[in-house]
Amino acid sequence: MTSFRQAIIITGGAGFIGSHTVRLFVNKYPEIRIINLDKLTYAGNLENLRDIEGKENYLFVKGDITDEGLIFSLFEKYPVTGVIHLAAESHVDRSITNPLEFIQTNIIGTVTLMNAAREAWKEQPEGKRFYQISTDEVYGSLGAEGYFTESTPYNPQSPYSASKAGADHFVRAYGNTYGLPHVITNCSNNYGPFQFPEKLIPLTINNILHKKPIPVYGKGENIRDWLYVEDHARAIDLVFFQGRNGRTYNIGGNNEWKNIDLVKKLCDITDRLLDRPAGSSRGLITFVRDRAGHDLRYAIDSSRIRDELGWQPETSFDDGLTKTVQWYLDNTEWLEHITTGAYAKYYEQQYGTTNDE
Ligand code: NAD
Ligand code: TYD
Repeated sequence: MTSFRQAIIITGGAGFIGSHTVRLFVNKYPEIRIINLDKLTYAGNLENLRDIEGKENYLFVKGDITDEGLIFSLFEKYPVTGVIHLAAESHVDRSITNPLEFIQTNIIGTVTLMNAAREAWKEQPEGKRFYQISTDEVYGSLGAEGYFTESTPYNPQSPYSASKAGADHFVRAYGNTYGLPHVITNCSNNYGPFQFPEKLIPLTINNILHKKPIPVYGKGENIRDWLYVEDHARAIDLVFFQGRNGRTYNIGGNNEWKNIDLVKKLCDITDRLLDRPAGSSRGLITFVRDRAGHDLRYAIDSSRIRDELGWQPETSFDDGLTKTVQWYLDNTEWLEHITTGAYAKYYEQQYGTTNDE
């Protein structure tokens, strides 16, 4: 058995962005032990990592980031030089129903991880790094104009974004107070394979596939900036190894879409790939009650990461969306496994009533 001189803990590695990040790191850094620490909540799925689970440098640990004993023991057992922290409750609608769960995982979990890192790294903080993966949603909502930069004040508007903002504040406070080496990135909306179908893009594809109504909140006028998930994983790799200590980087796709236009585009791509008559799935679009406190627009200025680290998105939206739709069509079994059981119950609760005005 190989012994590894360095280990990186990736939390939430069985989730959507986490699985792409784990895959990239396991394949790219065979000399580093990659520890995927994940509780396997409804959003965590080890099927996302089938292709790399047999690799020698990959280790899965099932556990909760709020479990202090477990986290401290991982730092004692392995030569952990970095934490890439993705584990979170990540869905705004769920945060509206159950905010406490978000505080527990997103804030208490983050602080628990940092306490262990701080203790383990206190003699020699050089060469160590705690990397907080955050979201553009901490900045609040934009009007029709402008972009979020790294100096935009935090102004979170949902329980989800408030919990992520709280965690980010703790990360900076630990840097300032205890000298914890850290870096933070705030990314826009991701899309791609393995995303849980509670989020807009996979939910829409799944509903088109099954000819079910596509729920569009309010009038569908809200705007998001979409980034292909593998572009985000590449940014994470760059920032982890090359980002400046204590620095924040915004990551975005420079790709703003109104929800209604995006949903129509998805209908058209899916119809084409399924050989359905052009335009037929658009008939499934159903306007439903708006999300409470729904942020109007997010848009990211990612010039800092571009200028300092040379990162920019590589996947065009047409290519990324086509690849994504094709992936879901090719992996209906993956979808079926998660859309049965607990998710079916959630779906009924969330979308039980519709409103067509
Ligand atoms: P996800 O919901 O798909 O995955 C979250 C993962 O965390 C799951 O595998 C889950 O099992 C795990 N997890 C949850 N609670 C845990 C706990 N207490 N202990 C251990 N593991 C736990 O989320 P995602 O969309 O991949 O997002 C990952 C990270 O990126 C989150 O921190 C999110 O805030 C951030 N982010 C997401 C987006 C996006 O568009 N999805 C954009 C910007 C930032
Ligand atoms: P979502 O994928 O939940 O991401 P976020 O809220 O973090 O941006 O939602 C993206 C946008 O799509 C957001 O404006 C809410 C909207 N939306 C719908 O219109 N219908 C849906 O069923 C969902 C899940 C989201």
